[in-house]
Amino acid sequence: QQHIAVAIDGPAASGKSTVAKKLAKLLGLNMVNTGAMYRAVVWGALQKNVSPNDPAAVVAMLSDFDFECKINQGSSEVWVDGQLLESELRSDAVNANVSAIAAIVEVRELLVAKQRGLLQYGSVIMEGRDIGSVVFPDTPYKLYIDASEEVRAARRAADGEVDAVGKRDAQDSKRKVSPLIVADGATVIDSSEMTLEEVIEAAVAALTAQG
Ligand code: C5P
Repeated sequence: QQHIAVAIDGPAASGKSTVAKKLAKLLGLNMVNTGAMYRAVVWGALQKNVSPNDPAAVVAMLSDFDFECKINQGSSEVWVDGQLLESELRSDAVNANVSAIAAIVEVRELLVAKQRGLLQYGSVIMEGRDIGSVVFPDTPYKLYIDASEEVRAARRAADGEVDAVGKRDAQDSKRKVSPLIVADGATVIDSSEMTLEEVIEAAVAALTAQG
């Protein structure tokens, strides 16, 4: 039997990670957070004194970058230089530099290949920016979770993070390669005025209709 992919895209702090986690549990699918992979490349670069704003230096770093992404107990994990990365990925420095690194074609090619490869371990819910448009364009299951900029900024502040979500979204939407867009066939859910339960209900209804 072939494994299926559910694509969830949307801007920063739209609630897509929370929704993806809940849906993955509910539907019994592996959950993959692709933002963590881009964040891991930034963490590795900063660790090696490579500027995320210097594409040539970043690409040179990739040639012997010790990076692994695996599924453990239903969720994706990222490892760099043999170290499992968790809270490191949410530092202010990573937040500030991730959009720059995510705009580098070679970084995207490397990570998209790894993302597609994770399907061999089972069906997935994958969340990010280009999952429905680039990583799995042929899947019928696509959601785009949105929220107003005010709501998103408030959610991020409630997490205690310094994160210019508006700036990150502008960079992610305007870049040439794989910009954040609503993929063909995706159902848009604006979560600004909805509870988590309502978003999950709408998501399940949309996926049922798409299948
Ligand atoms: O999802 P999260 O906010 O952690 O993603 C961090 C950053 O990684 C995004 O702002 C974006 O620049 C990049 N990203 C991407 N494509 C994805 C997932 C994340 O470009 N599929």
